[in-house]
Amino acid sequence: MTMPTMKDKPRVAIIGGGIIGMAIGWRLAQAGASVDIFERGQAGQGATRAAAGMLAAGVEAEPGEQSLLPLCLESQARWPGFAQELEALTGLPVGLRQQGTLVVASTRDEVELLRTNYEFQRGLGLDLVWLTGAAAKEKEPFLNPRTAAGVFSARDGQVDNRLASAALRVALEKTGARLHEGLEVTGLDVQGGRVTGVVLGDRVVAADQVVLAAGAWSRLIPGQASPPPVRPVKGQMMSLSMDPANPLLTHVVWAPKCYLVPRADGTLIIGATTEEKGFDSQMTAGGVLALLDAAWRALPGVEDLPVKEMWTGFRPGCRDDAPILGPASDLDGLILATGHHRNGILLAPLTADAIADLVLTGRIDPHIAPFGAGRFNAARAA
Ligand code: FAD
Ligand code: GLY
Repeated sequence: MTMPTMKDKPRVAIIGGGIIGMAIGWRLAQAGASVDIFERGQAGQGATRAAAGMLAAGVEAEPGEQSLLPLCLESQARWPGFAQELEALTGLPVGLRQQGTLVVASTRDEVELLRTNYEFQRGLGLDLVWLTGAAAKEKEPFLNPRTAAGVFSARDGQVDNRLASAALRVALEKTGARLHEGLEVTGLDVQGGRVTGVVLGDRVVAADQVVLAAGAWSRLIPGQASPPPVRPVKGQMMSLSMDPANPLLTHVVWAPKCYLVPRADGTLIIGATTEEKGFDSQMTAGGVLALLDAAWRALPGVEDLPVKEMWTGFRPGCRDDAPILGPASDLDGLILATGHHRNGILLAPLTADAIADLVLTGRIDPHIAPFGAGRFNAARAA
């Protein structure tokens, strides 16, 4: 990438006001850049609002995604510092809870699958502990009495993604970044093969660098030579209300076909479906049934809890399920920070540090080097 001649205050335009765009904007503004974030709706209301906020580098590690693990672990390790800094600056809580995550199984088949995943994850060097059913129920007494085994991951926790997003808005304001809501980027301004700004209807806002952080919508921004292979992966979610003084659950729990995320205020999130339905935002009876059935099998007491909310969201899923972090491969002046799929909340701190560094210095952090846009070029040429 050819870096522009850096002025004292490089002008950076960011497309998308989700957790990724806002976290990058915050880091850039802290470093003295002139930052404009363009969000066509309200900031933080896309996948960022829909997420469960799990910081699950360990239990979410899947076969075929080994290369993602170092990125996830590094970002997970940065969350406490990121949260502390955000809370200190804004005076707002972000709900980071580091009490560990439990994965449970009841039937013989489920225990077998749990054992296979546990051995795979231990083989990656993850510090997980195998638990008997009794030991799992000691951690969570209201689990189904039939719970036969569990795995405990002490490092996996959660953050309240909605609180974190609200804090980021304030952090942007306090560091002088401009968040423009209700302003849709309708194209890239390209001159001489270089992106020189963003188009907003009939006007152009000039920028030295443009960061594309439009989540599931990233490939739809006109003007890109090779739009990133990012698509919406629909997730249906719901939440119930527990008594915060006497909660049914205190740890994040993964059970067959669902996960359960208890917030400090008593909200119990149940997630999530994974559907290839484009931008269809309907909740369906089948989705709700599947979530409630799976949650009830793991934690029967949910049947007495009031329903609080139901919602859908779109994970920015990439062709290889990994994010795209780095310069656009065929357009100078454009940097991609998209495709975070199931891990965008987890990956926000590292994405923000690495992309801000790239914008300001042209350096590619070794953590993001394997996740550049260039990895798709061979496939395109074929
Ligand atoms: P978004 O939050 O979607 O933000 C993109 C923004 O760009 C949107 O606000 C949109 O309005 C804006 N935009 C789009 N086009 C334009 C345009 N042309 N002009 C201006 N603005 C535009 N991750 C985890 O780490 N842990 C979890 O537990 C977790 N659970 C999840 C559960 C569900 C059901 C879902 C759907 C996702 C979950 N994720 C989780 C994934 C995580 O939510 C995403 O990876 C992350 O929020 C992506 O952030 P983003 O900022 O890239 O996208
Ligand atoms: N990471 C949880 C989800 O995407 O549903």
